[in-house]
Parts: sequence; structure tokens; C-alpha cells
Amino acid sequence: MNNNRRNFLRKIGGSAAALAVGSGIQAQDQQPIIEMSSKLKVAATDKIRIGLIGAGIIGHFDSDTALKVPGVEIVAACDLYQGRLDYAKEKWGNGLFTTRDYREILNRKDIDAVLICTPDNWHQRIAIDSLNAGKHVYCEKPMVQKIEQGHGIIEAQKKSKKVFQVGSQRASALAILEANKVLKSGAIGELTYIQAFCDRTDIRGAWHYSIPTDASPETVDFDRFLGDAPKVPFDAKRFFRWRNYKDYGTGAAGDLIVHLLTSIHVITGSMGPSTIFSLADLKLWKDGRDAYDMVNALMNYKEAKEHNAFQVSTRVNLTDGEGKGGFGLKVIGTEGVINVGWNDLSVKSLKRHAAPGYGGYDSYESFSAKQKEEFKKWYASEYGDDMGGYDYVREIKFDSPKGYDDRLDHMINFFNGVRTGSAIVEDASFGLRASAPSIACNLSTELGKPIQWDPINMKLI
Ligand SMILES: NC(=O)c1ccc[n+]([C@@H]2O[C@H](COP(=O)([O-])OP(=O)(O)OC[C@H]3O[C@@H](n4cnc5c(N)ncnc54)[C@H](O)[C@@H]3O)[C@@H](O)[C@H]2O)c1
Repeated sequence: MNNNRRNFLRKIGGSAAALAVGSGIQAQDQQPIIEMSSKLKVAATDKIRIGLIGAGIIGHFDSDTALKVPGVEIVAACDLYQGRLDYAKEKWGNGLFTTRDYREILNRKDIDAVLICTPDNWHQRIAIDSLNAGKHVYCEKPMVQKIEQGHGIIEAQKKSKKVFQVGSQRASALAILEANKVLKSGAIGELTYIQAFCDRTDIRGAWHYSIPTDASPETVDFDRFLGDAPKVPFDAKRFFRWRNYKDYGTGAAGDLIVHLLTSIHVITGSMGPSTIFSLADLKLWKDGRDAYDMVNALMNYKEAKEHNAFQVSTRVNLTDGEGKGGFGLKVIGTEGVINVGWNDLSVKSLKRHAAPGYGGYDSYESFSAKQKEEFKKWYASEYGDDMGGYDYVREIKFDSPKGYDDRLDHMINFFNGVRTGSAIVEDASFGLRASAPSIACNLSTELGKPIQWDPINMKLI
């Protein structure tokens, strides 16, 4: 970081960021970059012992992140592919307990919490069993595969009084928390519209994950993986690329729009949309999959005490030929915009002139010469020399410290909840309020009509 930039930095403490926009947001010519930093701390008092259920791609990200939280130890891993159990021992030592049956993890008294990182079709069952077994639960997103599975988890959590957090880490991301403060400050006027997308170009981004050469009915417990899904003969593609099939995943909407809605719900404080309309299709990756690779959805958020009415336009395009890819989230108000990046954001505010101006693309140009002269005189007497338009009055950028990891803050939030009972933002109700409208995108496409959702009572209408 160069010195010039360093001079502009003002450290802001995470979610308590002192953004008194209006007075605090700085003039454009200063071009400040405000560095956000996490205020989350954790005391490594007693040990928390975790078991990982589903030791695939994200299971490792989540476990490695959990192990960065002081006092957390991993003692067990469950998976249905032998190679992943072998790797878990290679990585975490031969003392690690491994099994293909997650109930053996739940039966262990020395395990306080589980990370559920299985395909979507197993989330609900394992979450409820884990809560009933007295374990705290970090459950990957989307919380459920089917909308009607949500209330079972909410009830089980209430009954068990254990901590339950969904693993959509954007709920704890500094940029998202900061965007919430900016919006509340009024810096962009009245919220009207949010645009949120996730695009990918390459084939691995479209879930074409590597299949190990030793995949077989002996190394993979395929029948257990199927769970309640229709019985089919062993198929390594279905097992290792489960997202491509509706029977096990939730498609592009459940996989990725859920992250976008999670962010939107934290930024706006909203409980969710009331109407969801979606068009989805399988455009490019016709490799036997039945999940869509492109989804475009519109959602209507009714006025609530937390926000005025606004609309959301969201998409996932796994066939993106532009090659840029990535996430985009733009919160647009009547007087500005918040552009939210992964770890940064920028805010631009404008003020419109009260005077309308004239000329250019305007009826004035079609007036006769005489009328033009008369109109000019009239305008000057009415508005002086104000020729209308708008001015950008503020621009500010926020950045997270280099190496900032929202997943780590999300884990710290979870383990703080386990240790101290502190509030969990992404609890089971939040999880259902983000996953149900995402899954409703698939429903809307299939039924060819908008889906009506009651975000307060969390029910399809
Ligand atoms: N928060 C995030 O950023 C993020 C990112 C990727 C994935 N995810 C979510 O994490 C979950 C896992 O995704 P992934 O990409 O790691 O998948 P993956 O296929 O790489 O791993 C899933 C693992 O679960 C195991 N499994 C399947 N059924 C099981 C069962 N009944 N008991 C125990 N293990 C079982 C499989 O053997 C597999 O190894 C999905 O729900 C996905 O949506 C979240």
C-alpha cells in the first residue's frame, strides 16, 4: 500500500463502523478509502470439539476456517467416499475418528458441534438429527433442499436450544454489514431497486468437478448418498457432480442466488420477497444434467418496518461468454448507489437540481425561434441560470484489510454463539427466508408463473 493511500485511510471498526453519512461521508475531492476491519474477537477459554459431516470441497474450507478460531479442535469426519476419509486422516492425523455413518458422530459425547457440508438433499435430516442429539450446528447453505423442510429445522432448534447457523458467510461479511449502515444512513435516498448477479464462464464453475479414478460402488456409499431420492444404479457423475441433478441439489438458484439474497436481507434488514418470478434454462452444459445453468429472476419486496418497497433483479449465468464472471451487487436508491464488491464497497450520492433545465432531448428544440426566445426569458425569470441536471455530491470507498476472510468472521460468530450465547444472525428462520425464495425460482420456472411467498410466516401462498 503506498503512502498516499495510507494517508487517506481511516480505520473503521467493523460492524460498528462510524459512518455518519451525511456529515461523515467525505467530499469527493478527498477520495478517501475507509478501511473496514473486523471487531470480532474470540477467547480461547474452553475447547470446542467439532465433527465434520461431508468432507468434500467446502467441508475442508469450513473445517480449516473453524480451526483458525482459538480453542476449536476437529475430532471426527464423516463422508461417503473412502478417499475423502483417507484424506481427512492424512490432513488431521490418524487419531481422527472417521465413519460413513453420521449418526456415529452424533453418538459421541465428546463432540460439541458439527459442520454439515453434505449435498443439499441431506441438510434437513442431518440438521434435525444433530440438534436432537444435542449438538450445535453449522449447516451449509441452502439450509434446505425443499421449502417445506424449513420449519422442521426451526422447531428442532427451538426445542434443542442449541446454536444453529447457516453457512452463507456473506451474512458476516464486512462489506455487507457496511452496506447496511450506508443504506440506513440515507446516503442513497430511498431504496428502489437491487441488482445482484453471479456469472461464471469455465466448466468447473458450472460444477464439472473432478471425479477420482477409483470411484466405484466399493469406495462410494452410493445408496446412502441417494437418501430419499429415487433409486438409480451407481453413477459417479451423480455423486461427485450432484449439483447438476434436481434430485440432490437446488440448481443455480439454490446454490448461488441464496448467497445474493442472504446479502440483500442483511443489507436491507428484510425478511424477504412476497413475489418471485423466474425464467431458467439449460443453455450450454448439456452433459446429462437436469439442473438449469441460467436463471433470471425478479422479486418484489413489499414495504416493511425495516425498509420501503423495492424490487430485486437477480441472475445466475453459468454460461457467461463475456468472461468476466464473479458476483455483483448494486443497491440503487433515488439519490445514489452502493456498489458492493466481495470485500469492498463504494458509495456515490447525487442531488438533483430543482430547476428542470431545457434544450437537448427536450420539446424546447421543436419550438419556433420566437417561442424559443420567449421561453428563455420566462425560464430565467423562473429559475435564474440553473440549467438543471444533477451533481454527484459524495463518493466514498471502503476496503477490507488485505486477506480479510468473511468465512472466518462467520465461524467466529458461530463459535461465539456456542460459547457465550451471543445472537446468531443467520439462524434457521433467516436460513429459510433466504433459501425458500431462491428455491422458489425453480418452482416459478417449472410452473411458468410467479410464486407468492409470505416472508413473515415463511409460507408459500
Ligand atoms: N458457503 C459456501 O460458500 C459454499 C460453497 C460451496 C458449497 N457450499 C455448500 O456446501 C455443501 C457441500 O458442497 P460441496 O461443494 O462441498 O460438495 P462435495 O460434493 O464436494 O462434498 C459433499 C460431501 O458430502 C458427502 N456426503 C454426501 N451425503 C452424505 C451423507 N449422508 N453423510 C455424510 N457425508 C455425505 C459426500 O461424500 C461428499 O464428499 C452444499 O450444500 C453446498 O451448497 C457452500
